[in-house]
Amino acid sequence: MDQYRVYGNPIAQSKSPQIHQQFANQTGESLNYEKQLVPVNGFADAAKAFFAEGGCGLNITVPFKLEAFQFATRLTERARNAGAVNTLKALDNGDILGDNTDGQGMVSDIVNHLGWSLKDKTVLLLGAGGAVRGVLQPLLEQEPTKVVIANRTVAKALTLVREFKRYGKVQACGFADLAGQQFDVVINGTSASLSGDLPPLPEHLLSEQAVCYDMMYGAEPTVFMQWASAHGATSVADGLGMLVGQAAEAFYLWRRVKPEVAPVIQSLRAQLI
Ligand code: ATR
Repeated sequence: MDQYRVYGNPIAQSKSPQIHQQFANQTGESLNYEKQLVPVNGFADAAKAFFAEGGCGLNITVPFKLEAFQFATRLTERARNAGAVNTLKALDNGDILGDNTDGQGMVSDIVNHLGWSLKDKTVLLLGAGGAVRGVLQPLLEQEPTKVVIANRTVAKALTLVREFKRYGKVQACGFADLAGQQFDVVINGTSASLSGDLPPLPEHLLSEQAVCYDMMYGAEPTVFMQWASAHGATSVADGLGMLVGQAAEAFYLWRRVKPEVAPVIQSLRAQLI
């Protein structure tokens, strides 16, 4: 049977085997997908052995996404832009293709699953770390009016602007510069939620029909989601659909079959509550 794994450290919490098993059941694809704890210094050895034994594909999670980027012998454009790889695929010619499906996973969740439009919208991205870098290309390809990247450290947002301006209109600023600006879509890509923090956001940041998205997810709405609801967002969502969306993109890369995300998101949500 075709073999797939997710590599990480820690890995016990990973929902990927469950997600891919549901995709396989839905689509009738026959595959085996397991999670594997890889020693912090052992990524390249483990990946090499896996592919040498005929493994078909890997998902990669913390802390190995940069090593997976180095390990790949070919990269997709979106992986090169993300500077990180979350999916590896063995190609027929022996190459190992590195892809990054996180950004497209988020965009598909927003546009297809939640049904929010990004085209001709003003978009604010909070944060300028790896998570935001990973979504910029797919986001700009949706042709928003503009994307503003606001970050505590403005220099990091400016670096992203330089790298991504060829994909569309993108600007950088600090949180204080947001006063007086309004946005149709606000996406939180900071890791602040993890510690229950919220970037300092001005009162009237949301336009009349604004929607808000947090790349994080949990059993309870994040602090950013609570802020969004209290400040008039018409819809608010967390990143559970992004998790399933990135998996669906990886499944498609490997199997060339598009799975249904909605039932999988529903069953994961039911387990969270
Ligand atoms: P990730 O890979 O999750 O994006 P990262 O690369 O460490 O992680 O980036 C974390 C992001 O969250 C950064 O944009 C960081 O801001 P700085 O670049 O100024 O460090 C942001 N961040 C983390 N904690 C924050 C907080 N309490 N308030 C605002 N921004 C925060």
